[in-house]
Amino acid sequence: MLGPVILAASRSDRMRRLISAAPVTKQVVDRFIPGEDVDDIVPVVRDLADNGLELTMDVVGEDITNPAQAAAARDAYLELVDRLKPLELGTRAEMSVKLSMFGQALEGGHELALSNVRPVVEAAAEIGTTVTLDAEDHTTLDSMFAIHEELRKDFPQTGCVIQAYLFRTEADARRLAESGSRVRLVKGAYKEPASVAYQDKHEIDRAYVRILRTLMEGTGYPMIGSHDPRLIAIGQELAHQAGRKLDEYEFQMLYGIRTDEHLRLAAEGHRMRVYTAYGTDWYGYFMRRLAEKPANLRFFARSMLTK
Ligand code: FDA
Repeated sequence: MLGPVILAASRSDRMRRLISAAPVTKQVVDRFIPGEDVDDIVPVVRDLADNGLELTMDVVGEDITNPAQAAAARDAYLELVDRLKPLELGTRAEMSVKLSMFGQALEGGHELALSNVRPVVEAAAEIGTTVTLDAEDHTTLDSMFAIHEELRKDFPQTGCVIQAYLFRTEADARRLAESGSRVRLVKGAYKEPASVAYQDKHEIDRAYVRILRTLMEGTGYPMIGSHDPRLIAIGQELAHQAGRKLDEYEFQMLYGIRTDEHLRLAAEGHRMRVYTAYGTDWYGYFMRRLAEKPANLRFFARSMLTK
């Protein structure tokens, strides 16, 4: 029951101001977001890579209000690419982007987001890596998929995310699996109405398995974005049934969540990519992590009370 309340708070400016200003918030945030700027994050990248893990990097931010902020977001990613270059990690360190941060919701936002994301995809390709487009709320997805298709004409490795909780996703998965895309499948993290999304956890899990089967049987590159032990085991089994080798799919998890499992899968020879977010505009990202697990909220509330 708490999840939807926290997700509603994630869109409230008043809650944003309250929570962002609380002195203890930072300690809890650090568990999920290990840095505020690119200087903080380069050692984290090195450390994860040294442990046999791969990365997808997210400069946090969304719901911007003017084109200058969208250009600043683009520049933050370009700086990140610059800083990754000497590490020579290639596709072991890719980028994840939210198109809302690149201006998608502003007037003329589809073209604006495309014009801001393209230079990031080009810069990533120059250092031998790629970009994945995150999935945000359902109203943004037609534009996201159109931008994905457009980028893939020049950069076929550009990836995208699909969300198992949406009714539309089984059809999206069939289309993407046939076109040979890199696709990250997640359960879905936004507050969506019953008219477009499953609300029941078990129904979402069943949809996840159906969609993952489609991706595994297709010609693309499936990326299993989940911490759920059952889905991870099913993912391995579906990959095996589809005759995929270990380098023909991968697991992805969020920084700070089930870290032992990251290392276990990597040690077993799996490609294991850690979604690592950093930056100052962490509110929306942090609130979605609280919503996913009520115990996080209890920990957060306890640390507020004991200070
Ligand atoms: P589930 O929520 O059932 O969690 C399984 C277990 O994992 C829990 O029992 C708990 O042990 C642990 N766990 C999960 N979340 C936790 C948390 N926040 N704190 C502590 N423990 C936690 N969503 C989206 O809509 N668009 C996107 O682009 C992305 N991108 C993305 C990338 C990657 C790499 C991942 C892993 C996830 C996303 N998501 C996302 C988020 C996704 O939709 C979903 O909300 C979370 O992954 C939680 O769902 P699980 O599949 O982990 O299962």
